[in-house]
Amino acid sequence: MELKEKILKKEAIVGVVGLGYVGLPLIIAIGEAGFKTIGIDTDKEKVAKVKRGESYLEDVKSEEIKNLIKKGLLKAYNTYEKIEECDIINIAVPTPFTPTKDPDISSIIDAGKEISKRMRKGQLIILRSTTYPETTEKVLKPILDKSGLKIGKDYFLSFAPERIDPGNKIWTIKNTPVVVGGVTEKCTYLTKIFYEKIVNKVVPVSSPRVAEMAKLLENIFRSVNIALVNELALLCERMGNINVWEVISAASTKPFGFMPFYPGPGIGGHCILVDPYYLSWKAKEYDFHLNFIELAAETNEYMPFFVVNKLFDILGQNKVKIKDAEILILGAAFKRDVSDTRNSPTIKIISLLEGKVKKIYYNDPYVPTLKVNNKEYHSVKLSKNLLKKVDCVLIATDHSIYNYNWLLENARLIFDTRNAIKKKNKKVYLLGCNIF
Ligand SMILES: NC(=O)c1ccc[n+]([C@@H]2O[C@H](COP(=O)([O-])OP(=O)(O)OC[C@H]3O[C@@H](n4cnc5c(N)ncnc54)[C@H](O)[C@@H]3O)[C@@H](O)[C@H]2O)c1
Repeated sequence: MELKEKILKKEAIVGVVGLGYVGLPLIIAIGEAGFKTIGIDTDKEKVAKVKRGESYLEDVKSEEIKNLIKKGLLKAYNTYEKIEECDIINIAVPTPFTPTKDPDISSIIDAGKEISKRMRKGQLIILRSTTYPETTEKVLKPILDKSGLKIGKDYFLSFAPERIDPGNKIWTIKNTPVVVGGVTEKCTYLTKIFYEKIVNKVVPVSSPRVAEMAKLLENIFRSVNIALVNELALLCERMGNINVWEVISAASTKPFGFMPFYPGPGIGGHCILVDPYYLSWKAKEYDFHLNFIELAAETNEYMPFFVVNKLFDILGQNKVKIKDAEILILGAAFKRDVSDTRNSPTIKIISLLEGKVKKIYYNDPYVPTLKVNNKEYHSVKLSKNLLKKVDCVLIATDHSIYNYNWLLENARLIFDTRNAIKKKNKKVYLLGCNIF
């Protein structure tokens, strides 16, 4: 049967390589749409959990995995042996940066090589990982071409950037449009008709390069706007008589041409922090320096340093010596209501505090342990006694589960970097505001 027919009849077998924050919800959505799926991940523990029907992400319920397994619509492996069975293969492997902030696309290359060795005629490969423009055509395609198969005739290849927003209950895989750029027109067409079975809207573009750049634009847009409000927050700190949160709230009443972004202790995660560097690395190949974009990244990366300096100021103003201070950090995840700690500002803040203060505690209901510089921290239980004991509570992530009124009642000092408390009080210090 031709791939088109298999897709339209939902008889295509769909592989997902990489079962992380992107891959696991994706394979569930594909399975729930009625396709047989095969998940592949090099992490044996994740595969074992999927096989047992156990979710490891907040956005995926164990029940959803179990249901698909029961219906025979989901299987998971930690090798690539079943690639040949797949008609469609989505690649959702990580694309982090190196310590010197160069792109690390080794997982895409590894996945490509494993797929290439086992490819057969009629397969569609869709890269979903975020990466710099031309990765699909100039890195992945040459690897897949080694199979001896011809693109557009024997096999098909597209880039379709993932837009999932973990923790977002409104915008889901189903109602978030997918942009698709194939290497040939047929590649785009097949990817489009496949994703039309999964999501409400598919947006075809002229090439993978356009889709790759569009994804970077989306994330860099956020990075630049967050940097803008972070810079304003620093100015408000300096001026001393303006609260940046009040400013943003006032500006947000404009019904058009403005979109609110908020300052914070720094940005983390797998995307907003990383992606500007992917593009600036690529731009240098063309003797082009993305000064504006890099300045935004630099401004955002300065925030944890600023937060630690302000924390030391707060301790000083309250006559607590830094070396005697006990600090409790609330939130280890990089954003509200998720467990993802990749590049989290809390990790940076702890590493800046280590060796300077007497004791660092953290609490995060979603993150039981946290590794910082090879030291393992354990989330502490929140109690009145703990709050009485610590000199300052630093709110780094504003999880909605926290009882901020209780915190305000019981803590001695609070440094709120997220405007979570929302109440004026002598013991609350706010990032981006020096009014008491
Ligand atoms: N997390 C997000 O919110 C988000 C949103 C949009 C796009 N993205 C992009 O999607 C991609 C995946 O991100 P993620 O957050 O799901 O990462 P992740 O680390 O949560 O998941 C990636 C998975 O791939 C597996 N893996 C690594 N190398 C592999 C290989 N060679 N073969 C098979 N499996 C392999 C890992 O074990 C891991 O389970 C990245 O490019 C990221 O930038 C992420």
